[in-house]
Amino acid sequence: MNQKLGLALGFFLLLSQFYFAESRCSQTCDLALASYYVSSGDTLSVIAERFNSAILQSADTIVNYNRDKISNKDFVPSFIRINIPFPCDCVQDELLNEFVGHTFQYDVQSGDTYTTVATEKYTNLTTVPWLERFNNYTATNIPDTGTLNVSVNCSCGDSSISKDYGLFITYPLRPEDTLDSIATEYNISKDMLQKYNVGVDFSAGTGLVYVPGKDENNSTRPLTSSAGIAGGAIAGISIGVVAVALLVAVCVYFGFYRKKKVKEAILLSGSQELSAQALQAPGSNSDKPVDSTGLALSPGLGGITVDKSVEFSYEELAQATDNFSMANKIGQGGFGSVYYAELRGEKAAIKKMDMQASKEFFAELKVLTHVHHLNLVRLIGYCVEGSLFLVYEYIENGNLSQHLHGSGRDPLSWSARLQIALDSARGLEYIHEHTVPVYIHRDIKSANILIDKNFRGKVADFGLTKLTEVGGSSLPTRLVGTFGYMPPEYAQYGDVSPKVDVYAFGVVLCELISAKDAIVKINGSSAETKGLVALFEEVLNEPDPREELCKLIDPRLEDNYPLDSVRKMAQLAKACTHENPHLRPSMRSIVVALMTLSSSTEDWDVGSFYENQHLVNLMSGR
Ligand SMILES: Nc1ncnc2c1ncn2[C@@H]1O[C@H](COP(=O)(O)OP(=O)(O)OP(=O)(O)O)[C@@H](O)[C@H]1O
Ligand SMILES: *[C@@H]1O[C@H](CO)[C@@H](O)[C@H](O)[C@H]1NC(C)=O
Ligand SMILES: *[C@@H]1O[C@H](CO)[C@@H](O)[C@H](O)[C@H]1NC(C)=O
Ligand SMILES: *[C@@H]1O[C@H](CO)[C@@H](O)[C@H](O)[C@H]1NC(C)=O
Ligand SMILES: *[C@@H]1O[C@H](CO)[C@@H](O)[C@H](O)[C@H]1NC(C)=O
Ligand SMILES: *[C@@H]1O[C@H](CO)[C@@H](O)[C@H](O)[C@H]1NC(C)=O
Ligand SMILES: *[C@@H]1O[C@H](CO)[C@@H](O)[C@H](O)[C@H]1NC(C)=O
Ligand SMILES: *[C@@H]1O[C@H](CO)[C@@H](O)[C@H](O)[C@H]1NC(C)=O
Repeated sequence: MNQKLGLALGFFLLLSQFYFAESRCSQTCDLALASYYVSSGDTLSVIAERFNSAILQSADTIVNYNRDKISNKDFVPSFIRINIPFPCDCVQDELLNEFVGHTFQYDVQSGDTYTTVATEKYTNLTTVPWLERFNNYTATNIPDTGTLNVSVNCSCGDSSISKDYGLFITYPLRPEDTLDSIATEYNISKDMLQKYNVGVDFSAGTGLVYVPGKDENNSTRPLTSSAGIAGGAIAGISIGVVAVALLVAVCVYFGFYRKKKVKEAILLSGSQELSAQALQAPGSNSDKPVDSTGLALSPGLGGITVDKSVEFSYEELAQATDNFSMANKIGQGGFGSVYYAELRGEKAAIKKMDMQASKEFFAELKVLTHVHHLNLVRLIGYCVEGSLFLVYEYIENGNLSQHLHGSGRDPLSWSARLQIALDSARGLEYIHEHTVPVYIHRDIKSANILIDKNFRGKVADFGLTKLTEVGGSSLPTRLVGTFGYMPPEYAQYGDVSPKVDVYAFGVVLCELISAKDAIVKINGSSAETKGLVALFEEVLNEPDPREELCKLIDPRLEDNYPLDSVRKMAQLAKACTHENPHLRPSMRSIVVALMTLSSSTEDWDVGSFYENQHLVNLMSGR
């Protein structure tokens, strides 16, 4: 009995933590601004490096957000504030608390202390205690090289205050600030400003406040449906719901089913669904009948609507895809078919899989819908009626494999290929290092990299491998991964680490260079095949690889590529596909390498073509 009680309590704690954590972050948004105070000697490129994120990769972006203050990216006036865009996502600290913010990776310079980093490098957007919390170095022991986690808070708005504001500046107060001065500067009423910063003394000279801001088009942003509930309120609601549900669960468990096996405490999942439903907005699909425990929870919940909109009904999906008609089918993968849909006025891609979502995966799905990154295909929602349906944002331009190997499309330019490589590397870096929990994709390949209308790359299907992992025996067994992309340690021993993705990414780099499949037929016969990786390795092991490398390069590029850039990418591919996983670089270093490569290739792009072609010929000895 005691054991059972302990077990049950354990479950409950886990569950309540899950809800607490999840609800705190249901207000993430893709954009927030940090008010940075420029000191003399700052340059935009240094600032851009410091605040590097998915939405800020160069000084130009900072210029776009501060056109009234900066006219030239090579010069920024001192002693003014500028707004720096950053993603407002979920940060988790060691105590398993989640809050909205963003963690920047700061490269330590000699002489840095937590104080200089907080007060000078990040101009009080973070604090010393906050730095100490996210970094395990003691204050006297910060290494000269290495990185620090710099977490900056943000806000996405609050629908109970105003629906007009969904973009906020994280604003560290300085001694010269007052409520009046900020209200005037940002053209917002004092009343409104105080409402967003309850109890804050704007003349305190220190501390953070949140001020509605403007985006790069000089316009304020309204609240988006996924954001906008005060963290406290939402946490309160879900804790309340969970508490009631748990109470009922405990009563039922110990009252009626005491004699049954613990395994049958499936009730837990019932309460989980109940609270999920209760948290849904009216008008999504929350008009389902009252839960079997008899707990009626009105969807409005005291006027506060929580628009998570992640669970769709089967009818809605069938309607959006013309009953999953062949005409709407856009793809077929190992897991299931993909259909084009128009859902609530938006284009979507729906993946239909003939399997049931286990309870664990169901929970996983909820987490996945909270992972947002520019270079990851977003999971909008799901449906678990009959089959398992996953609703993704629709990506217009097909997958990378089609662009490289298919006919009927213009060849991708070298700079487009470089960009797509960098984009996918960023997506992977994000799931390896910045999501909670951390993900390993395990099925990276050119068909899983989608291309949007601006020819930017997005990684698809991340997190799906959990389906086979947690699913148990009821699911079809399928070796996760695709032949030709699997590293030796994984294919032979099933060893899984982020380096599995690094290897597969290296294969994609080889594909980008050569437009060949991951497995190459020799002499056009399928009887004799060779891995693309082996082919590249042979070439790069030659004493002077240039000539042989040129033969490997996609002929559709004609002569329009800087050989040096190609050679460097080939070397990066070689490092990624090293036999020893420990010697492969991390996705983080790969991102840095590709950024460097793409900035040096930019010069090539803007320069005169013939001049550069001349250089290329010289380099390749032609
Ligand atoms: N969000 C999306 N937007 C547009 N097209 C998509 C989207 N998701 C998938 N597709 C298309 O459907 C195809 C099949 O996708 P899916 O992910 O099911 O298969 P796969 O990646 O080829 O195989 P596997 O299931 O083995 O990973 C993709 O290659 C792509 O062309
Ligand atoms: C932005 O809009 C405001 C008015 O809303 C205007 O005063 C300002 O000049 C604009 N700035 C730019 C850079 O367009
Ligand atoms: C940050 O705060 C400290 C202490 O309040 C202050 O001395 C310092 O000037 C501030 N830095 C900036 C850039 O405002
Ligand atoms: C950021 O927000 C958290 C949670 O709301 C708070 O505890 C913390 O003090 C804030 N950090 C800073 C630097 O203001
Ligand atoms: C930064 O945060 C990550 C993730 O929480 C952690 O693994 C890492 O150790 C932190 N870095 C330092 C220097 O503590
Ligand atoms: C910080 O964490 C890393 C990895 O978790 C560990 O290797 C290192 O020893 C830790 N450093 C300190 C000072 O605790
Ligand atoms: C200030 O805001 C009001 C509405 O809130 C708007 O009408 C006015 O144009 C804004 N002024 C400037 C200078 O942006
Ligand atoms: C700014 O406007 C352009 C063109 O209308 C649009 O493509 C872009 O997405 C807008 N940017 C933001 C941040 O809204």
